[in-house]
Amino acid sequence: MNRTIVVVSAGLSRPSSTRLLADRLSAAAVDAAAALGVRLEVRVLELRDLAHDITNHLLTGFPPAALRDALDAVAGADGLIAVTPVFNASYSGLFKSFFDVVDSDALADKPVLIAATGGTARHSLALKHALRPMFAYLHAITVPTSVFAASEDWGGDESEGELRGRILRAGDELAREVARREPVAVADPFSLTTSFEDLLAG
Ligand SMILES: Cc1cc2nc3c(=O)[nH]c(=O)nc-3n(C[C@H](O)[C@H](O)[C@H](O)COP(=O)(O)O)c2cc1C
Repeated sequence: MNRTIVVVSAGLSRPSSTRLLADRLSAAAVDAAAALGVRLEVRVLELRDLAHDITNHLLTGFPPAALRDALDAVAGADGLIAVTPVFNASYSGLFKSFFDVVDSDALADKPVLIAATGGTARHSLALKHALRPMFAYLHAITVPTSVFAASEDWGGDESEGELRGRILRAGDELAREVARREPVAVADPFSLTTSFEDLLAG
């Protein structure tokens, strides 16, 4: 059984701790899904590469091709991992702007794992007061465990510790939620709803 997940990373730095957390989470989800007999295909969207397109879409109402492709990938995904750096105690503006241009019903009933990075663990509550409400508004199904990594969490022995435990638990929750659902089927807006014969007869 195959399923796809899209990983949205809003980190701006290179290398990015947000991307690092996103990669750890997707690896945990892939492993957990494999244990359930599901092969997860992963597509990563680095929002910094789409930043100009997102602004153009907000200004014109039309997504450039690369952004359209990214938005289609999100709509067609069986699950999502969404990771933002904390800026001023909330999600970053780029992260919010991306989800402002995602089609309004694209996340409905879609399993989403939310995560964030920050300079201080004191701002981990951004997951609860900013990210979780936004995804609730979009009718997504956020898995119970969200993951926050502060700067001090990196650099030690990542194979153990609380962060590692949360990553594994969150990945497992996402994998289970994806595995128990039917694959997402996105309707082709250009497909014929009536056969050629019926059209000609009409
Ligand atoms: C404009 C700005 C605002 C920030 N505000 C916060 C904040 O309120 N709380 C926090 O914990 N970290 C804050 N940070 C630190 C970033 O969240 C942190 O460095 C993040 O992990 C960077 O992610 P990246 O390595 O993927 O770019 C801020 C950073 C910037 C540039």
